[in-house]
Amino acid sequence: MKDRNVSARLLPEYGELAEGVGEILISEERLRQRVAEIAHQVSSDYAGLNPLLVGVLKGVLFFMSDLLQSLTIQAENDFIAVSSYSPETRQRGMVRFVKDLEAPIEGRHILFVEDVIDTGLTLSYILNNLRSRRPASLEVCVLFNKPNHRLIEIPIKYKGFDLPDRFVVGYGLDYREKFRNLPFVALLKPEVFQEVK
Ligand code: IMP
Ligand code: MG
Repeated sequence: MKDRNVSARLLPEYGELAEGVGEILISEERLRQRVAEIAHQVSSDYAGLNPLLVGVLKGVLFFMSDLLQSLTIQAENDFIAVSSYSPETRQRGMVRFVKDLEAPIEGRHILFVEDVIDTGLTLSYILNNLRSRRPASLEVCVLFNKPNHRLIEIPIKYKGFDLPDRFVVGYGLDYREKFRNLPFVALLKPEVFQEVK
C-alpha cells in the first residue's frame, strides 16, 4: 500500500494507473520521436506501393495507430489475432489464427508491424504463414526488440528500440491485460510482477 502511494505521488497525472509502476524506461517523448522517424522512412520506402500494414492484436494497437497517423503515403491496415494451441506447440511458436486477414495478400506489399519480438517463435510461424500467400514483399517493423532472448532469427527492416531482457509494460504491452494504456514504457514493481512467461 505504501509503495503504491509512492508511485502515485511520483506520477500524479497518471492517478491509479501509476500504482505498481516502477522505473520508466522510454518516455512518451522518445516514443513519439522514434515512431515519427520510422514513419518517415516507411513513407519514403513504400511511396506509390500502397502497402498493407498487418499487426497482431492487441499489443500493437498503439504503435500501429501512431505509425499509420504519421505516414505521408497511402497505406492500408489489417489485423490478425492468434492463440496458442497448447503449452508444447506454444514452445515451437505454433498458433491458431483466431482472426485472419480480411482479404488475400497475393501480390501486395506487406509490412508486418509488431510491438515486441522476444524469442521470435510466434512471429516466425506467422511470417511463414503469410509468406505462403505469395505477397509481393514481406518486411518486419518492430518497435521493441529483445535481442538476448532470440531463438529464431527474424530479419527486421525497421526497429524502434532495443530493450534489456526485462518484462515491460505500457504503450500497448500488458501485464495480465493491465497497464497497456500507459503512454510510456516502464518496469513494474517487483511486488506487482510475478513471473509470467
Ligand atoms: P515471442 O517473440 O514469440 O517470444 O513472443 C513475444 C510476445 O510475448 C509478444 O507479442 C508479447 O505478447 C509477449 N511479450 C514479450 N515480452 C514482453 C514484455 O516485456 N511485456 C509484455 N509482453 C511481452
Ligand atoms: Mg504481440
